[in-house]
Amino acid sequence: MSDKRVAVVTGARRGIGKATALAMAAAGFRVAVTSSNPGLPVAGAKGTAAGLSSTVDAITAAGGEALALPMDLLDRASIGRVVDAVIAQWGQIDVLVNNAIYQGDTLQCTVMDSAPDMLERVFLGQVVNTTYLTQRVIGAALGRHPLRVINVGSAGGRFDDAQAHPVGQGGTSFVYAASKAAFHKLAPMLHTELAHAGVHAFTMNPGLVQTEALTQFVGTVPGANPVEMPARVITWLATAPEALILSGTYQDAVTLYERHCSVGA
Ligand SMILES: NC(=O)c1ccc[n+]([C@@H]2O[C@H](COP(=O)([O-])OP(=O)(O)OC[C@H]3O[C@@H](n4cnc5c(N)ncnc54)[C@H](OP(=O)(O)O)[C@@H]3O)[C@@H](O)[C@H]2O)c1
Repeated sequence: MSDKRVAVVTGARRGIGKATALAMAAAGFRVAVTSSNPGLPVAGAKGTAAGLSSTVDAITAAGGEALALPMDLLDRASIGRVVDAVIAQWGQIDVLVNNAIYQGDTLQCTVMDSAPDMLERVFLGQVVNTTYLTQRVIGAALGRHPLRVINVGSAGGRFDDAQAHPVGQGGTSFVYAASKAAFHKLAPMLHTELAHAGVHAFTMNPGLVQTEALTQFVGTVPGANPVEMPARVITWLATAPEALILSGTYQDAVTLYERHCSVGA
């Protein structure tokens, strides 16, 4: 086992995932980053994942180590290859940040417009294959070293009452909310089943964060947070000894940021 800890951050080409990868590298982690965009080799990194260059370059320019890997949440084999590649390169995975989400063109639609094929793809990515990735990473860590899993959830999957506005008019879509709600069950279940074995899992709701995706689907939202806010919170959950008491729980990033991360920001 290396004395340098290793993190895997999924969906790190842009947005919250990219900011998290940079923050984890700044905290001393070797960071494997994934993107579903196939294509050109990334300079200075193993694997191929076009678009990860800016993430990798920023990490390496700051003196960190990054591994760029292609991973499509709809392609289970690519998920297995990510775990195998990280273990082959660095021997261990200490932190998994499940940030990536499959967002097809038709994600922003009403219940009546939610085609079965689209529902299957979204649940395959957000629930089935994200669980598979988590299983594979736990399998590599169990009995060897502790592991922290941080699942990036959403308030949209948290509340069961009717929302004020339908999708397209400020509300979230059924498939997004429902798949996040299912995904939210992963951390508490893992806590119950595996915290005694050193696996600690958290659900973190980033709140409104002005990412490319938010701009694309909703627009510019006054008061939305910068990507660095949830990135700092994820890094705190991944590293702070006092964060372990939150294992198995759902947490709002803004609250944790104000309590634990804002000093010196
Ligand atoms: N922004 C917000 O206000 C907000 C609020 C609540 C929750 N969240 C959650 O925060 C997370 C990040 O969101 P974001 O706003 O940063 O959006 P984003 O930029 O769309 O991030 C999603 C990431 O997933 C990757 N991805 C897309 N399709 C994929 C696929 N088929 N397989 C693997 N990876 C795929 C994307 O990279 P590639 O295209 O390179 O693969 C991208 O880096 C998501 O889980 C989102 O639900 C965000």
